[in-house]
Amino acid sequence: MNSVYPKKIQLLASQHWTPLHITEMAAEFLTPEKNAKILDIGSGVGKFCLGAAYLKPEAYFFGVEQRSELVSHADLARKLLGLKNVRFLNCNLTLLDFRRYDHFYFFNSFYENLIDTDKIDNKVKCTPALYNYYNQQLYKKLEGLKPGTRLVTYHTLEDHIPPDYQLAESHLSGLLKFWIKIL
Ligand SMILES: C[S@@+](CC[C@H](N)C(=O)[O-])C[C@H]1O[C@@H](n2cnc3c(N)ncnc32)[C@H](O)[C@@H]1O
Repeated sequence: MNSVYPKKIQLLASQHWTPLHITEMAAEFLTPEKNAKILDIGSGVGKFCLGAAYLKPEAYFFGVEQRSELVSHADLARKLLGLKNVRFLNCNLTLLDFRRYDHFYFFNSFYENLIDTDKIDNKVKCTPALYNYYNQQLYKKLEGLKPGTRLVTYHTLEDHIPPDYQLAESHLSGLLKFWIKIL
């Protein structure tokens, strides 16, 4: 799967893009019904969405990503793979209405605001204040969704998830968590 991307993108995979075996488990949980619409919150070069769209052809996968260059890589990979059930949006997640989607995937997208090294690139502003702001925005958006909404978190702290999301499954010593909104 990494081979659909240029070398410089492949080199970022181990740290920044979801491995395929994680995608497989997450996609299974996130598609309880046919035609489910799933949003990857911070989709990078689209690796999660593309893998999941291949595995679940009856579901629709959407990625929102702030870096336009990564969205271009995602779109190119989508065309190479010939997948019809996946789309990428180039904007900040704060601008998106989450109520348009059924279920969500989140791979600790804001962490780069807390570190000085190992960033994807230096093209976006990263600060601890933005880390807090994005987490608050995400929390509010998740709070506003309907009961039954599913969420998969990977490498993400529990205190960023509203309390009405019940933990349904935990894998890999808690690195991968499956949640369902109960209220
Ligand atoms: C760890 S990568 C995960 C990529 C993808 N979800 C995957 O699993 O392969 C997180 C991505 O979130 C993006 N991101 C971070 N903050 C964002 C924001 N506020 N709005 C949109 N994208 C954001 C970053 O640019 C980065 O590409």
